[in-house]
Amino acid sequence: LFAGETEFVKGVVAMSGLPEPDRLEVCFAGRSNVGKSSLINALTGRKGLARASNTPGRTQEINYFTAGEALYLVDLPGYGYANAPVPVVEKWQRLLKQFLSGRQTLRRAFVLIDARHGVKKVDEEILSLLDSSAVTFQAVLTKADKVKEAERQKVLDQVREALARHPAAYPEIIVTSSEKGWGIPTLRATI
Ligand code: GTP
Ligand code: MG
Repeated sequence: LFAGETEFVKGVVAMSGLPEPDRLEVCFAGRSNVGKSSLINALTGRKGLARASNTPGRTQEINYFTAGEALYLVDLPGYGYANAPVPVVEKWQRLLKQFLSGRQTLRRAFVLIDARHGVKKVDEEILSLLDSSAVTFQAVLTKADKVKEAERQKVLDQVREALARHPAAYPEIIVTSSEKGWGIPTLRATI
């Protein structure tokens, strides 16, 4: 589906800069540093495609990638990041919310949740926004390689419980590790 067909299109800093809504898109949302850019790289099999970094707040624009002719993959800036100047953070957050609630060609949001931490309060705010915008979302656990099986099950239960409160949630949770390649074929097939 993706190999050799993915290209970076553009980084967008305002809704007016979004590409023509001429194809479907799926986006990757989640707290800062949860592994959004790394997941896109794992999905496309191209390591340096989306810029990943140890520094939270790495992705500061809405980054568009093609996945074949019919689909865009959209890498979003993280939320819940406190270590940047307030006006800067507010600008990203406003753009993020406008995008999630107002992009007509957005077919599904993948909301990434760290397998060590589960759903946090800042996630809840985004999930509620997706509910009220009627954007179907699916939870993806990231960094599963960092937790033991028992811990992962506990977090999965917590995430399941949280999703049950959100009408726009798709019930299946995909467990991934971009580092180990776990769950990547499943996510690719879902997309
Ligand atoms: P922002 O753009 O800042 O919001 O971050 P992001 O969500 O795009 O996260 P990014 O992909 O940049 O990854 C953040 C850090 O987590 C990097 O140091 C990655 O190498 C690491 N990371 C991402 N995915 C995994 C994973 O599956 N396993 C492990 N062990 N580390 C990971
Ligand atoms: Mg990123």
